[in-house]
Amino acid sequence: MRASWAALGVVLSVGTVEAQSAGRWPPDSLVNTTVIPRGTPVIQVVGRMRNFAFDLGVRCEFCHDGEPGKDLATFDFASDRKRTKTVAREMMRMVDDINRRLDSLPSRPVPPVRVTCATCHRGVSRPMPLSSLIAEVAQGSGADSAIAAYRGLRARHFGSGAYDFGESSLSVSAFRLGRASRFAEAFRILDLNAEFYPTSSGIEVFRGNLELMRGDTVAARRAFREALRRDPSNEEAQGRLDTVTPRP
Ligand code: HEC
Ligand code: HEC
Repeated sequence: MRASWAALGVVLSVGTVEAQSAGRWPPDSLVNTTVIPRGTPVIQVVGRMRNFAFDLGVRCEFCHDGEPGKDLATFDFASDRKRTKTVAREMMRMVDDINRRLDSLPSRPVPPVRVTCATCHRGVSRPMPLSSLIAEVAQGSGADSAIAAYRGLRARHFGSGAYDFGESSLSVSAFRLGRASRFAEAFRILDLNAEFYPTSSGIEVFRGNLELMRGDTVAARRAFREALRRDPSNEEAQGRLDTVTPRP
């Protein structure tokens, strides 16, 4: 008896989901929310959803069942078919958790800083340091793909704060590739960096370190000297040069 009630319960709830998903925008009530309280006004939920989309640089169909560009009335917002939607739910719980912990900070400065999706996502759906992203693409698909990825990201996101296009990102990528003994890729990435920062002394220090890693002390010395020529006050370059210059 109990088992059949449970079965009926499942049938009923599935039936409700399907009935409500049949084309009405905005919907008049919430159907399948487990983080947002059911009584929340739909208009408020939609506002929150717009923020999700903006913060991740995506559209509704990134998480919801629906065709890009189609009328929202044709979307099945209650469906949990997409992985991204279920991940987003975990993210909502995580953000609530973070903010609760922040609320308990001792002598918290005012006004308090709230964490939102944008704190980490800054307009991208899978936030990741640029240095890791480029090193991963270079290792998986080669230097040409990594360079194309960097140029594409730079053209699209420069100035948005989504990625750090400062000098250190590509140098760190190159260094990581060197650690993995992927020297051909490492030097290509470093050359790409030099294209954007042509007078950098720091890039030449990275070049020298990479040359040392692959065992070319002559080329390393040349790079450290070049770093010093560009910036005579670069103590790291001087220190590295001293360690690789044979003493008389
Ligand atoms: C990053 C993922 C994500 C994006 C983008 C997103 N949503 Fe959602 N949406 C969710 C999640 C997760 C829930 C369920 C929340 C819960 O369980 O409390 C939800 C629930 C909803 C609901 C309530 C569905 C129900 O069960 O009644 C509506 C309506 C909705 N979203 C509309 C939109 C619209 C419109 C957009 C585009 C402007 C949008 N969403 C963009 C993740 C997203
Ligand atoms: C503390 C940082 C942080 C916050 C805050 C945060 N996210 Fe995320 N989010 C991440 C990271 C990191 C990943 C990538 C995890 C992975 O795949 O390794 C991610 C992944 C996701 C993904 C999956 C993307 C994909 O393509 O696989 C979704 C969807 C998402 N976040 C939604 C949200 C939403 C919605 C919010 C706000 C409610 C939010 N996130 C808040 C850090 C954050």
